[in-house]
Amino acid sequence: MRITGSTRLAGIMGWPVSHSRSPALHNFWLDEHGIDGAYVPLSVHPEHLGQALRALPALGFRGCNLTLPHKHMALALVDRVDPLARRIGAVNTVVVAADGSLEGSNTDVYGFRENLRDYAPDWDPASGPAVVVGAGGAARAVVAALGEAGVAEIRLVNRTLSRAESIARDLGSRSTEISIHPWDRRNSALRDAGLLVNTTSLGMTGEPALEIDLAALPLAAVVVDIVYVPLETPLLAAARRRGHRTVDGLGMLLHQGRPGFEAWFGTPVGVTRELRAAVLATLAAAR
Ligand code: ATR
Repeated sequence: MRITGSTRLAGIMGWPVSHSRSPALHNFWLDEHGIDGAYVPLSVHPEHLGQALRALPALGFRGCNLTLPHKHMALALVDRVDPLARRIGAVNTVVVAADGSLEGSNTDVYGFRENLRDYAPDWDPASGPAVVVGAGGAARAVVAALGEAGVAEIRLVNRTLSRAESIARDLGSRSTEISIHPWDRRNSALRDAGLLVNTTSLGMTGEPALEIDLAALPLAAVVVDIVYVPLETPLLAAARRRGHRTVDGLGMLLHQGRPGFEAWFGTPVGVTRELRAAVLATLAAAR
């Protein structure tokens, strides 16, 4: 990468930010397309998020991504929030408009949908209820994506019921019923399901596996894990052995970056095998 006097800038604000894979992702695309641009990590303390966001237009930045713990707070700090981001309660992408105002959106829904489209193109939202395990920030994006896809019933399983209730209140609709299932009933919640998604951190390297018995899950069901370290979690390995179609979480991370990149740098980008390999290499190097 070569920095010139007219290099376009974007970045990611987080606290901490050093674990983020977004710089590897966006700088891959910048190199791939020979764009005079740079995407940098911005270590921003939560107390300074407002100041940091306001500085984007002042410094000539095209925009930024937001990661923990900033995604919720940003809702109140940008000038406009798209309706989907408001429903989810999180902004992960900020674009500086021509007049210097800040537009906030959430591209995790897009990332989840595109990853599912890549690896389970035959999945039919009408094939049965979708079971979502977990009720954190990631679950909100997944539930919103399933609602948009037209899933009629979402079964939300979480250890802390109040968090699942809050998602059902915020994201349930006339066309998508969200039912809540206690943690100890997660196995039976799989009956007749067409899709199972893990949105918890269980199964990630260093965390215990998600303990779930897949016996009740129809073999035609697709199993998705949003964890991507390791690429094949114990859940995905068990699902593959039973013969399910499985979808790992890396594609969601890669696809969610596309709308921001395209807005900041004006070039459409794709998720290729080379991109997956480059980001996987940075994940391996970080361990
Ligand atoms: P994210 O924004 O990545 O979704 P989060 O908001 O911290 O992260 O949510 C983590 C999810 O993993 C939650 O659903 C959490 O369950 P609780 O709401 O009960 O905390 C779930 N989770 C994490 N560790 C867990 C464990 N050991 N057993 C069951 N669920 C767990």
